Amino acid sequence: MKQILRKAASCLVLTAWALNMFGQDILRISTESTDLVLRVGENRRLYQVYLGQKLEHEADLKLLDWPVHASSDGSAVKRGWEVYSGSGNEDFFEPAIAVTHYDGNPSTWLYYVSSSIRRVEGGTQTDIVLRDDRYPLEVTLHYIAYYEQNVIKTWSEIRHREKSPIVLSAYASTMLYFNRPAYYLTEFSSDWAKEAQMSTSRLTPGKKILDTKLGSRAAMHMHPFFLLGLDEAAAEDSGEVLAGTLGWTGNFRFTFEVDNVGNLRVIPGINPYASSYELKPEETFTTPEFIFTMGYDGAGSASRNLHDWALRYQLKDGMQSRMTLLNNWENTGFRFDQDKLAGLMQEAKHLGVDMFLLDDGWFGNKYPRKNDKVGLGDWEETRDKLPGGIPALVESAHRAGVKLGIWIEPEMVNPKSELFEKHPDWAIHYPNREVYCYRNQLVLDLSNPQVQEYVYGVVERILQQNPDLAYFKWDCNSPITNIYSPYLREKQGQLYIDHVRGLYKVLQRIKKNYPHVSMMLCSGGGARCDYEALKYFTEFWCSDNTDPIERLYIQWGFSHIFPAKAMCAHVTSWNKNTSIKFRTDVASMCKLGFDIGLDKLGSDDLRYCQTAVANWKRLQHVILDGNQYRLVSPYAGNHMAVSYVSDSQEKAVLFAYDIYPRYQEKIFKVKLKGLAPDKYYKVEEINLMPGRKSDLKADGMTLSGDYLMKVGLDVFSTSSLKSRVVELTEVEG
Ligand code: DGJ
Repeated sequence: MKQILRKAASCLVLTAWALNMFGQDILRISTESTDLVLRVGENRRLYQVYLGQKLEHEADLKLLDWPVHASSDGSAVKRGWEVYSGSGNEDFFEPAIAVTHYDGNPSTWLYYVSSSIRRVEGGTQTDIVLRDDRYPLEVTLHYIAYYEQNVIKTWSEIRHREKSPIVLSAYASTMLYFNRPAYYLTEFSSDWAKEAQMSTSRLTPGKKILDTKLGSRAAMHMHPFFLLGLDEAAAEDSGEVLAGTLGWTGNFRFTFEVDNVGNLRVIPGINPYASSYELKPEETFTTPEFIFTMGYDGAGSASRNLHDWALRYQLKDGMQSRMTLLNNWENTGFRFDQDKLAGLMQEAKHLGVDMFLLDDGWFGNKYPRKNDKVGLGDWEETRDKLPGGIPALVESAHRAGVKLGIWIEPEMVNPKSELFEKHPDWAIHYPNREVYCYRNQLVLDLSNPQVQEYVYGVVERILQQNPDLAYFKWDCNSPITNIYSPYLREKQGQLYIDHVRGLYKVLQRIKKNYPHVSMMLCSGGGARCDYEALKYFTEFWCSDNTDPIERLYIQWGFSHIFPAKAMCAHVTSWNKNTSIKFRTDVASMCKLGFDIGLDKLGSDDLRYCQTAVANWKRLQHVILDGNQYRLVSPYAGNHMAVSYVSDSQEKAVLFAYDIYPRYQEKIFKVKLKGLAPDKYYKVEEINLMPGRKSDLKADGMTLSGDYLMKVGLDVFSTSSLKSRVVELTEVEG
């Protein structure tokens, strides 16, 4: 204990700390509105005793205990909520860690050793050391509490000094417990063109698992985040909700286990599927970060916590602006050449966007990339198509007055490529089975340092030759198939994990050496969407599905975890039944881009797009940096509305959409949120088609924030596929 107190004294003593205050060892991890309280038991093991709304009186901490319940023979059982429960102890439910020690013993009992606290960027970090009493195995639990954002980020480190390697078969990032009458899980399932589909179900006794085994395009079927409604299903503006997400660009697993007495444990971490990990003595196994927040006013408050935190502390260049762009994938596919691209760059300028983004199909000479069957891996400009290479494109962009971005997919290879002919052993595939491909490609083995070097080299070569290149779209279209690493040989259990770690090594180098290059994270749409990757990427591609109706749902789903600034949305020709206005207004809710042939647009449509781009750029600081309020859910009916309010509450932008209203459906006003009740706002409908006047009743009026929030605006109609964008500006009352 003296040692602990000495440590505490030598560190800055901050709010998260209340050690040995009452003759008990209590660790308090606090944000402005949440307390996570841990306690060292008499047996020196570490238990969670509280997770919930901030406790006002420090003296109350000593009253905290885990729930006591009767065992089958009637005696009280104090099993406890062990914070990092090990396999083979008296807890009969899912453990956080499972180890086979050097001598074959599969049990791990962890005892509290010490803890410390220090200030880190944006928060307070608490580190807690636990140790097995029979084996030289240590686990350090890390927690960073971001006070103002009410976000807690937590991860663990496992290391040992046993005589020979140990095998880890479970290695959760953390473990959280609840004791409530009911739990409702909202999951975000997915598939190509169907990302972030929300569904909610009540958790019943036993386990519910959300996981993925896809390796690289890992979140294709399930995204690495969830909402947990306590007592009732997560609602937008009321009730207690935990929003949680794992920062891991690979296989993840969330286990939700309701035990025999109705306690819930939540165990987030890497999915241990096919991943028994051999850990050498003195090596450290670091788990991914689990990031969570408690919203006490529903999911909306939880999302705003995460958005604010991400912009400040996690997303690459989170506090900087974003570039609007014109992409060519939906427009040209693989069919383009140098002149065509130069023309598109002029179009980008004419549209008013900042950048032209060249997509797939610019590389390969022995096997020119004319479709997705060939050439992946051969990152040399196709001479026939692009005789001047990327430098000529940079020059054309310069002349047009836009920046240039370029698509790459450096983690993958087509078997029909020079790269595969030269280095078949760099691709993940079985030595003794027929190869099976996804989108005609294989995944390169990033557990192999040579492959890491190669992948980094793809980016470095392009940037060294073209220092003015501003942006990469980094794609990843295949899950790991043929799961065998020629490099790891007999250690295949490391593959899924070391592959992701190899990817991070590459991304770290890119960020360090080319910090000013922005990158879009793409994975055949939105199959990579996690906060670890977003340390290196400024934004992610939510979906190849750009039908604006589908996008209302997809963007609604992702917005629960990610800020609009991280979410790319493009105007395309998907669903031509919708107007260009509707499509643009939907994309304008996020990071705006276009992927459409402007030559195919009528003059009014083009003028409309130019105005919308200019408006978006003018209002980007509100849309991307303001506070988001989800006002009307598309899941609830035939309309959708979202607003963004600047921190100063001087400006707001309201987006409203009628999808397919019913005949003579009753229409309700939309009540705004987050405005200052005593401020007065001028209401102006913007993004109007050329020559059209607003038919919004309140257009041009000045209304109080109070009125706008209590009475609202008539922005919906019974027309199908109609959209409105309304700008609210504070004026003197
Ligand atoms: C999948 C992406 O999601 C698309 O936007 C496009 O870049 C293609 N890959 C190119 O192959």
